[in-house]
Amino acid sequence: MSTGLLEGYVAAMVLSAVGDSLGYFNGKWEFLLDGEKIHKQLAERGGLDAIDIEGWRVSDDTVMHLATAEALIAAGKEENLTQVYSLIARHYKACMSDMVGRAPGGASVSNALKLEPDEPNGWRIPFNKHEGGCGAAMRAMCIGLRFPHPEQQDTLIQVSIESGRMTHHHPTGYLGAVASALFTSYAVNGKPPQEWGRGLMQVLPEAKKYVIQAGYFVKENLESWDYFKDQWEMYLNLRGISNGRPPIFPKPFGVKERDQFYKSVSYSGWGGSSGHDAPMIAYDAILASGDSWKELAHRAFFHGGDSDSTAAIAGCWWGVMHGFKGVSPSNYKKLEYKDRLEKAARALYVLQSKENSAITL
Ligand SMILES: *[C@@H]1O[C@H](CO)[C@@H](O)[C@H](O)[C@H]1NC(C)=O
Repeated sequence: MSTGLLEGYVAAMVLSAVGDSLGYFNGKWEFLLDGEKIHKQLAERGGLDAIDIEGWRVSDDTVMHLATAEALIAAGKEENLTQVYSLIARHYKACMSDMVGRAPGGASVSNALKLEPDEPNGWRIPFNKHEGGCGAAMRAMCIGLRFPHPEQQDTLIQVSIESGRMTHHHPTGYLGAVASALFTSYAVNGKPPQEWGRGLMQVLPEAKKYVIQAGYFVKENLESWDYFKDQWEMYLNLRGISNGRPPIFPKPFGVKERDQFYKSVSYSGWGGSSGHDAPMIAYDAILASGDSWKELAHRAFFHGGDSDSTAAIAGCWWGVMHGFKGVSPSNYKKLEYKDRLEKAARALYVLQSKENSAITL
């Protein structure tokens, strides 16, 4: 860890939103399907460092990430997870009033509005085989900030799954939330990124155990379970990191090749729009970028796929590890919701650090 952990928490929340805003560019770049065109427009604006973020709105990703974070903060040290889920449901439903101009996903909107946070089990929705989108993954990173300690891994898994399937009740969707949260916790613990993928593969059986034990639409979930796992296994083999060894990238692997690759790992042609490939593309960018903010942005924020979601995830992980190192202040100074994001980051930091000291005492 090259920076203080509190700064890492603040950077995680803020740079996730910065990535989201840059990848989204008020809808212009999220929906531009040609990475080379985006890079050309970026160069015409003077490149990444020249971008003043003022006026670049955050998208649904950040609004929902803040909803997750603020629900976990409101829950404080509540240990009854049923109560925590009601709070998350309440925040997801409420944040739908802040979606104008932010291009929210269809499943997120329709399902969040159906949640009944005050009813018993009102935070649950039925299984749906069309809910494998990235809406659960893009808002779950902060669960790893809240429950980063290895002995909290079961809680991290459960909260990721249940918050994820409040709008995306399909394993491809909510396992994306598990990946986003888990890798955030790995970043907090200083685990080298090349080992994260192997960790995820070890966690998937635990996630499956929980889904069975939870006893809710078990058969449907298990029938659709393998897609996420298979896609990740293929990806880790391709990069040669199934055993945590250094990654191998094709050469050349420029904007055009990356667009093709992101498309190739996607479910239906739009890289990063599903629960499995949004964290996968973010991870691929992390593996190749080291401590370079610019390299991370070029790979995870500016491409022809669902760029704001891969950006929101990658920005969070990178911020935990590197703080604001080398990030042009113009990229974040006038960021929308910056104060809220910083406040949430500090509160999450305090919640996890108290628990840590209680455990080690
Ligand atoms: C947790 O909260 C729920 C909802 O209020 C309640 O029904 C349940 O009994 C609680 N569980 C425990 C173990 O206290």
